This record gives sequence, structure tokens and C-alpha cells, in this order.
Amino acid sequence: MPGSTARNWLRCVLPVLAAFLLVAGAHDVVAAQVLRVGSDVAYPPFEFVDEETGEFAGFDMDLIREVGRRLGMEVEIINTAWEGIIPGLLAGDYDVVISAMTITDERAQAVDFSDPYFATGQVIVVRADDTSVQQPADLTGKVVAVQIGTTGQFAAERIEGVARIDHYPSTPEALLALRLGRADAAVVDELVAMEEARANPGTLKVVGTPFTVEYYGIAIRKGRQELLRSINRTLAQIKADGTYDELYAKWFGSQ
Ligand code: ARG
Repeated sequence: MPGSTARNWLRCVLPVLAAFLLVAGAHDVVAAQVLRVGSDVAYPPFEFVDEETGEFAGFDMDLIREVGRRLGMEVEIINTAWEGIIPGLLAGDYDVVISAMTITDERAQAVDFSDPYFATGQVIVVRADDTSVQQPADLTGKVVAVQIGTTGQFAAERIEGVARIDHYPSTPEALLALRLGRADAAVVDELVAMEEARANPGTLKVVGTPFTVEYYGIAIRKGRQELLRSINRTLAQIKADGTYDELYAKWFGSQ
């Protein structure tokens, strides 16, 4: 009799114990399942703070949240100054960077990139009443505003005869300098420039078509092969099942 009582007791307790361990274990998994994302959230329409809701919004934000959702991970966006964005990734402040970041050879020496998720290029922005600039060569003798450390800066440096390049911590600041007449032009990613022109009609305009070819990628610390593969797999699914096109239409309309 005592033997069977012990067995009965075990029969009751074991499932409870197992369930407890499962919940505790699952909790650990969930805790580790946060995808921390660094982004310079001042780059509409890719990433910006929605003034009504106070939330991070934009194409990149939607895309990375969708990636996270499909990987069963909670996405935490960490607003980060562009200048320190790669050092922050290397230091482990976040797991990935999505920030309209162009895949460049130099950056690829420090970090890994996902497969490209967006094709774009640099354009010149000038004040709406300026008719003197049609192409990069027309920037001879002009002051050009750029966001520091961006491909806009690197592209401006390759244009001969530019009088001066002024570096701003953020793209909105570079565009503000242009609006205020502190610079003659800005060099910016195409769709960001178009959004700026759209948001400030009659103030700024985009000149011509892109004069560089660039692709955005999600940056990841080297050595995180599994995360990289998961992200690439998910990006491919998002493109294949039409979700990408929906996001594109949402943020860029017919552009
Ligand atoms: N595509 C450019 C680059 O990679 C500019 C990106 C700036 N992104 C931002 N969120 N401020 O250099």
C-alpha cells in the first residue's frame, strides 16, 4: 500500500513539475527572443517618430517588425545616432541595424549584411527656386550639406570642384541648413529627398535622377550566421508572398 501511495503521489506531482519546468523554460526562451534593433530614427519615410502616436514608424520599422514576427521574436527599436550606429552594433547594444543603411565594401569589413532589401541612389536637393543645378557637375563652387558618415557624404566627396562639404549629425539638419540658405545643395538618398520635397512643397526640389546605385541591407555582427540566415530566409518569404509589395505601396505609393 505505501508503494502505491507513493506512485499515486508521483503521478500527481510529476505533471505539475513538468508543466512548471516547461513554463519556466519557455519563459527563458521568450526572454532571449527579443530582437534589439538599432536605427537612426530620423529618416522619413524609412524611419521616423510618428508625431501623433510617438511611435517609431516607416518602411524599415514595418519590415523589421514583420521579420521579427515571423521569427517569433519581439522587436525592440533602439533610436541611435547615425555616427555611432556601427560601433553600437559591434558593442552589442543591439542585434541588428536597420536604418536605410547602404551596403558598402568598407562597412562589410566590419559587419555582415543581409541580402539587399531596397535599391536606391543619391540625388541632389536644392531650393525650389534654384535653376543653376541640373547635375553633379553643377555643384562646382557650391556648398553641399550632407549627413556625416553617409553615402551622401561619400558621393559629394567624389564630385570635383565642390567649394565645401558641411557635415550634419542628421539628414533633417542637413536639409534644414539648405532651406535656411546655409548650403546650396544637399546630397541625400532618393526617396528621403522625395519625401522631403513632398512634405515641403515649394521649398525644396529634387534635381534629376540618382547618380549612384546603392542597396540597403540589414547589418548584423559578424559571426552570427544563424541570425543572418534566419533574417535572409524571412526577407525572401516577405518578398515572395507579396508582403514586401504591400509595404512598398504603403510607404512609397506609386513612386
Ligand atoms: N543610405 C545612406 C547610408 O547608408 C544614408 C542612411 C542614413 N540613414 C539614417 N537612418 N539616417 O550611408
